[in-house]
Amino acid sequence: MLVDLGIDLDKVNRTGFYDIDVDPSLDLFAEIEKLKQEKNAIVLAHYYQEPDIQDVADYIGDSLGLAQKAEATDASMIVFAGVHFMAETAKILNANKKVLLPDLKAGCSLSDSCPPPLFKKFKEAHPDHLVISYINCSAGIKALSDIICTSSNAKAIVDSLPREQKIIFAPDKNLGAYINKTSGRDMLLWNGACMVHEIFSLQKITKLKERHPEAKLIAHPECEDAVLRIADYIGSTTQLLKYTQTDKSSSYIVATETGILHQMQKNAPSKTFIPAPPDNACACNDCPHMKLNTLEKLYLCMKYEVPEIMMDEELRLQAKKPIDRMLELSRQFGLV
Ligand code: 13P
Ligand code: SF4
Repeated sequence: MLVDLGIDLDKVNRTGFYDIDVDPSLDLFAEIEKLKQEKNAIVLAHYYQEPDIQDVADYIGDSLGLAQKAEATDASMIVFAGVHFMAETAKILNANKKVLLPDLKAGCSLSDSCPPPLFKKFKEAHPDHLVISYINCSAGIKALSDIICTSSNAKAIVDSLPREQKIIFAPDKNLGAYINKTSGRDMLLWNGACMVHEIFSLQKITKLKERHPEAKLIAHPECEDAVLRIADYIGSTTQLLKYTQTDKSSSYIVATETGILHQMQKNAPSKTFIPAPPDNACACNDCPHMKLNTLEKLYLCMKYEVPEIMMDEELRLQAKKPIDRMLELSRQFGLV
């Protein structure tokens, strides 16, 4: 299908908007607002998105908040400024809505670390285990799971199960180990990890703490145990953000993806937020997948309504069951 601008929409739907220039004189904020009205669209953004995208979003949240918003919205179109598994979750919850992702290549190293055929074999080797999967996984893994969790509700979900219940936890070994430690369980862990949260340097963080003795270290539970051990507070992105608003300290070393600093600084302008140093030469702890989305791609994707998340209906229904279970448990726990 060729439209007036010479854009092959079928190709874009398979690959994304990669080489298309947007007229630099356009006010993209105003254009996106117009498109939202015209198309009855909602823009959902994760805290790891670039600041401009966060500023134009209707809702910014962590993975749980975003799934809850996707479930509750009455918009006709969901534009998901996040990564593929997040948009896919929104589609699983909304068979009849159009769900768009500005860049289809926005994947997730953690999700990729758990291929469904391998996980199926692992599950079959432990038939007496219940499967709890972190939402950072593909629909194929969700379909093989009993309950989905996020970093906000993982401990509450695990704690709600009988102590004798054997559990497989996938795909994040660091979050799984943290839940094992805090809930006194011995869940079987899939050996997956997030490339962003595994990169923090304990040595550099320790030095930074010496230089800023007043700063508290706050960390996401996807970080390795060595970092979590010295953290003053551990939580999901929303929990970290709330902590920095209510806690009395004036500065924080933040061990998660840097996108969250935008809301932290906005909500507490007088406080200082220092990104935790990673163990790499570029000193960058951006998620390369999250940062594939740009304001330009967001605009183009809303204008042309591609790339769209498509799903096999049988897979969708299978993957929906453990997500529904998570959403129901979260309601019961008052996590809304
Ligand atoms: P939360 O959104 O649950 O804080 O998880 C962070 C993350 O890694 C999302 O990819
Ligand atoms: Fe995946 Fe890590 Fe990026 Fe989150 S931060 S999307 S877990 S690679």
